[in-house]
Amino acid sequence: MAQLAEKTVVVVGGGSGIGKAVAVAAARDGAQVVLSSRSRDKLEAAAQDIPRAVVSPVDMTDPASVAAWQTTLPAIDHLVISASSAAHGRFQDLSDDALRAMFDAKFFGPYATARAALPKLRDGGSITFFSGVLSRRPGFNCSGLGAVNGAVESLAYALALELGPRLRVNCISPGMIRSDAYAGMPEDARKTMYEATGESLPVGRVGTVEEAAEATLFVMSNTYTTGLVLDIDGGHMIRQYATR
Ligand SMILES: NC(=O)c1ccc[n+]([C@@H]2O[C@H](COP(=O)([O-])OP(=O)(O)OC[C@H]3O[C@@H](n4cnc5c(N)ncnc54)[C@H](OP(=O)(O)O)[C@@H]3O)[C@@H](O)[C@H]2O)c1
Repeated sequence: MAQLAEKTVVVVGGGSGIGKAVAVAAARDGAQVVLSSRSRDKLEAAAQDIPRAVVSPVDMTDPASVAAWQTTLPAIDHLVISASSAAHGRFQDLSDDALRAMFDAKFFGPYATARAALPKLRDGGSITFFSGVLSRRPGFNCSGLGAVNGAVESLAYALALELGPRLRVNCISPGMIRSDAYAGMPEDARKTMYEATGESLPVGRVGTVEEAAEATLFVMSNTYTTGLVLDIDGGHMIRQYATR
């Protein structure tokens, strides 16, 4: 229970979805948690559910915001970056602007954010990035999203080498997880998507934010784990191929 006692965990993306579940689980295990993302209101609402949580807003795509955020941070043991945004579209249709905005939010943002936090990370600490199964098991209309996930995974591998043995660096690669990421979809479409995806998976359902959070706590806490891309995907990697 006390494996994170006396530890400080910063979760960028901690206001919703998997990031919030990571923050809840880390606080349960004794950590002091710092919640970050763009919306202070969202962070403060999330903090209501998390004992001792503090909030420190940041927009990872804005260098001035990242620099200001860095000055607010205490010494950190574990940095988790679940924040991102995704753009879907056929190869020939996805606009350059949408593709660049996604790379800004999901690759360059986490890159700059982790680099800014580096001086604050205590020896023996860890960084956990988030990618997604589309990097290695693509789907239709997801070439850009698959590519950005691949970039994040490469970054995690390389940083595990470069920052070790002082720090460990890992990456969680979720399959479909029921989360706030899909809150903008019409309810019927979301339900249909969850059911169809769940049926295609060996576990017969999509995942929960708590399942993804427990995996995150594992890579964060296990001191012999670095350079790992961990699929939390209900068997997505071995599911039946879709027909075109
Ligand atoms: N859920 C899934 O099915 C799934 C599948 C594959 C991969 N993933 C990956 O898993 C990770 C977590 O997903 P999730 O489902 O927890 O997503 P989520 O609930 O949508 O959370 C993403 C968070 O990112 C924050 N954010 C977005 N842009 C930001 C920026 N520029 N600077 C700072 N914060 C920013 C948002 O908060 P603000 O609006 O306050 O900024 C939001 O809280 C993501 O990397 C996602 O791509 C998820």
